[in-house]
Amino acid sequence: MGAIPMGDRKISVGLCGFGIVGQGVYDHLTRKRKLLAEQLGADISLARVAVRDKSKKRDVEIDLSLITEDSLSVATDPEIDVVCELMGGTGLALEIVTRALVAGKIVVTANKALLCDHGKELLAAAQEHGGHLLFEASVAGGIPVIKAIREGLIINDFSRIDGILNGTCNYILTRMANEGLSYQEILAEAKALGFAEADESLDVDGIDAAHKAVVLAYLAYGKWADLEEVRLDGITRVNQEDIRFAEDNGYAVKLIASVERERQSKALYVSVLPALVPKSSSLGSVDGVFNAISIHGDVVGETVYIGPGAGRHATSSAVISDIVDAVKLLIFGGPEGRFPFLDPAPKNGNELEIAGPVEVHSRYYVRMRVDDRPGVMAEIASILASREVSLASVTQKEVGVDAERVSLIITTHMTSEKAIMETIDDLGNLDSVQGSPMTMPIRDFGE
Ligand code: HSE
Repeated sequence: MGAIPMGDRKISVGLCGFGIVGQGVYDHLTRKRKLLAEQLGADISLARVAVRDKSKKRDVEIDLSLITEDSLSVATDPEIDVVCELMGGTGLALEIVTRALVAGKIVVTANKALLCDHGKELLAAAQEHGGHLLFEASVAGGIPVIKAIREGLIINDFSRIDGILNGTCNYILTRMANEGLSYQEILAEAKALGFAEADESLDVDGIDAAHKAVVLAYLAYGKWADLEEVRLDGITRVNQEDIRFAEDNGYAVKLIASVERERQSKALYVSVLPALVPKSSSLGSVDGVFNAISIHGDVVGETVYIGPGAGRHATSSAVISDIVDAVKLLIFGGPEGRFPFLDPAPKNGNELEIAGPVEVHSRYYVRMRVDDRPGVMAEIASILASREVSLASVTQKEVGVDAERVSLIITTHMTSEKAIMETIDDLGNLDSVQGSPMTMPIRDFGE
């Protein structure tokens, strides 16, 4: 058998960052180099790899002459066509991506925090200098949801997007439900498996999912929301009582990121909140490190995407799809070897208002620890009445006669986010309620 043709063009990729994902990209691209060359007619060569510490032991074998500790030199190397930023963070990563874009390169990144904080200026730099910024791996790991929104669903106006966007939280919540453990007990394992962020509070406080929701909001509506505009809560207060209540009532507790237009005002609402989700809904049965996204488009209706949302292989799969798109831009592009910059999002979204708490409505779950004595229920009911919040159910388990405090769980009918926030504040101020009540929306997802 003769030599396998490697294609006429050689495309040089520089990797900045050689951690879990960087090594995965290197490994998979190296293994499939010949197959890809046959398919694309271009040979993808991993020409340089920037690391923080050259002496660190790696899982994959790599030609040491490719390695440098000078990541900025990779970003601006004239021999490099595609710069792949896989370091994370918003310090050095911002500098690398900016410099590469200013040098007119195609940049691939998995960095959701960077996009959330600087996406607007980075896309402007790509446009100004003739480069491109590709970021499929930044949301939902191995699920090609960015391509789905940008390409497959382009004709649609979106009424809402709901997703499980953080694999670590979904893994923790699933194991809490299946094994009765607390989130702290499971977090260490999620870290060892390579799902969790280096700073795990980004996962469990919902910030990572919020970064991703901001990216989805931009893609769907063309508006960069500020992180501060996202209604945000993580999973650290979710406990076994919440999980058991959910199970007993046909729900699962999931960290749900939502991007939606309010029906009346049309304002944009972006949220990341633990929520009760019907177990039978498309998101309610998605377990472990899997992510899922349900997208409602006016032309297509609902489409749902499910797959592994974190980890070496899932994220590498998405990064490599962007590298291949970069290759296609370079080999099939216009006279300068490039297609002109295409805005990844609708252009008319910048003026959208962010929805206020009066405009947002849901059913709610509220758990609080209360004194077990006469009159407490009446105080609580009176607060709900004063805020015009209607009770849907009340659950208090019988405890021993000597117990001084007991858990009380209520659910409400539809009410505004403003009313529930004020109710929670009022309840937290009662002497008979210990600490601040824990609350979650109940998402029926049209069930
Ligand atoms: N820490 C993230 C997660 C990694 O758990 O989803 C993928 O973005």
